[in-house]
Amino acid sequence: MTGIETKQHIQQRYQEQLEQAVILASRHVKEGKVASYIPELAKSDPNHLSAAVVLMDGSVIAAGNTQTRFTLQSIAKLFSLAIALADHGCEYVFSRVGMEPTGDPFNSIMKLEAIKPHKPLNPMINAGAIVVCDMVKGNGCEERTERILSLLRKMTGNPEICVNHAVYLSEKNSANRNRALAYFMKDSGVLTGDVEDTLDFYFRHCSIEVNTQDVAWMASVLAADGAHPVTGERLIDERIAGICKTFMVTCGMYNASGEFAIQVGIPAKSGVAGGIMATVPMQMGIGVYSPGLDEKGNSLAGVKLLQELSNLWNLSIF
Ligand code: DON
Repeated sequence: MTGIETKQHIQQRYQEQLEQAVILASRHVKEGKVASYIPELAKSDPNHLSAAVVLMDGSVIAAGNTQTRFTLQSIAKLFSLAIALADHGCEYVFSRVGMEPTGDPFNSIMKLEAIKPHKPLNPMINAGAIVVCDMVKGNGCEERTERILSLLRKMTGNPEICVNHAVYLSEKNSANRNRALAYFMKDSGVLTGDVEDTLDFYFRHCSIEVNTQDVAWMASVLAADGAHPVTGERLIDERIAGICKTFMVTCGMYNASGEFAIQVGIPAKSGVAGGIMATVPMQMGIGVYSPGLDEKGNSLAGVKLLQELSNLWNLSIF
């Protein structure tokens, strides 16, 4: 050894360390609880755990049950936000949805009624994401869904990314809380479009199916300020990518965002299917998956795994 680590050595070291971190985190998979309020999600295997890392030179490291597919759920909210911001600009988007963390659960209806005007506090809670979906341009939910699929296919280089129809229908048929939020917002003028079409787009984009490698590629584009790290193609405006990362820090893990920022220190966005997308600016994109959730709705073993990686690789941005 010369003391200078070659690219191949670095990749090998990262691979071994990722595998080790997956083994350590897998001890916690049974402590979480798989989401059941969307019945189709309850079928997930609670023992599954996977992680993938995309480095800025495009090298990919993966460990665990890497073939397992899962739906983005709330992770998708970042990309509908990116599209709405590109469609309308910051001023208009943030006149209809706020920028503040809530301290409440992701599907809370409480603050919405208490705050006047009834503008959702941020675009990561369900109410805020439904308003964002209302702003995504397109002729009906099919065209709006195609727009986000097209963005995600470019980000991941995976042309096969599509909606999991069973999860979509399951969510659509059990979405009493989201319907309540949406109709309340329609009644108070916060939603302007067709409520069912907007909800349909919201359910579909939450039901987009991926694996951890896809999520790591998405995160790598955010890490590279919105350009594809390998091709250099600009997929998201730099300022919009910055806004997305800021929401990941302040609201990405809901009412656990503060604790996560201190313990892990990486911009991250969770989804109730068990995925977490984490982005280390100019260094790497990370995707983790384990369907058992903690009481705040974040993947329990996924958070442990990210904590381990953050310590190991000194990833905290703070
Ligand atoms: O609307 C819902 O409840 C789900 N489609 C998304 C919620 C979610 O992912 C919360 N995340 N941790």
